[in-house]
Amino acid sequence: MSSESLAKGAAPRPVSLTGDRPTGPLHIGHYVGSLLNRVEMQHTYQSFVLVADLQALTDHADQPQKVSDHILEVALDYLAVGIDPKLSTVVVQSGVPELSELTVYFLNLVTLAQLRQNPTVKAEIQQKGFGERVPAGFLVYPASQAADITAFGATVVPVGEDQLPMLEQTCEIVRKFNRLYAPDDPVLQEPAAVVPRVSRLPGLDGQQKMGKSLGNALFLKDSAEVLVQKVMGMYTDPQHLRASDPGRVQGNPVFAYLDAFDPDQSALEDLKAHYERGGLGDVTLKRRLIEVLESIFQPIRVRREELAQHPDEVRRILLEGTRRGREVAAQTLSKVRRAMQLERWHSPA
Ligand code: TRP
Repeated sequence: MSSESLAKGAAPRPVSLTGDRPTGPLHIGHYVGSLLNRVEMQHTYQSFVLVADLQALTDHADQPQKVSDHILEVALDYLAVGIDPKLSTVVVQSGVPELSELTVYFLNLVTLAQLRQNPTVKAEIQQKGFGERVPAGFLVYPASQAADITAFGATVVPVGEDQLPMLEQTCEIVRKFNRLYAPDDPVLQEPAAVVPRVSRLPGLDGQQKMGKSLGNALFLKDSAEVLVQKVMGMYTDPQHLRASDPGRVQGNPVFAYLDAFDPDQSALEDLKAHYERGGLGDVTLKRRLIEVLESIFQPIRVRREELAQHPDEVRRILLEGTRRGREVAAQTLSKVRRAMQLERWHSPA
């Protein structure tokens, strides 16, 4: 509960939590997939946003510098899109050791079989080419994510649909925890996902997923020139060779982006009909997309550049958020230890 709501005697606001691994800058897929929801929800929920550096290390153990550097980058992305440190608490995961402690307890409540069957983890193992050499920490990260969510008492988690298996796993762990350790007075709460209207943007290359590591992303920090270059290089309909040819809208990422971002959806319907009929060239179409994207991302880029001039201020926001987050997690952990009969040997550090 925030001291503010205590002071006013108001009912505590429900808690929302979400996060990102700091392995690269955030892209426009994150923007529609989760950032927009967070910005909106920070007005109604007590919002935590987690920079998940420990989760990032589960597949970047050999690149601590990269992970460390991207904490600030991700924080800049957050602040630039409108996550407001007065309304949201931005927490760096490694600054809250209680999360690691809770992860260890949760690992007893999941089976290897469950972890191996997690469709998102499975897809990532394949995409990263781990095979049987998957780091144990990576395989079990859904348990650590369950710890992130429950330690802050989150009941809503605004995420893209690829994170739904993590939420399911979290609910299973919560039920098991409460059943085993707190049958009369549940300690942990089951969260629900909040999935946005457009929850997945295809990559610039038309691949199903836009990914930091897939080389097919448009980043929030990309300059106007890079944005133009990337859009002009986008995959469209390979059969659409001349402007006069009829083109395909389905599976065409340019239209997927226009669907997600174009404020004039009725003009977009006309564009689609024109494209399908023939007579609308890819360059004209891409110019429209550039115009739409620039109108949204230009102000974000400007704000990001301004903030980047004041890294100390950003660090201060992170330190303060991490401190506040730790207070909340420590309260949960004290209940957890009591329920698990572990509190007797626990003394404050
Ligand atoms: N797994 C998420 C991602 O890859 C990041 C994340 C870590 C997260 N902890 C979380 C998301 C807790 C929601 C809730 O983007």
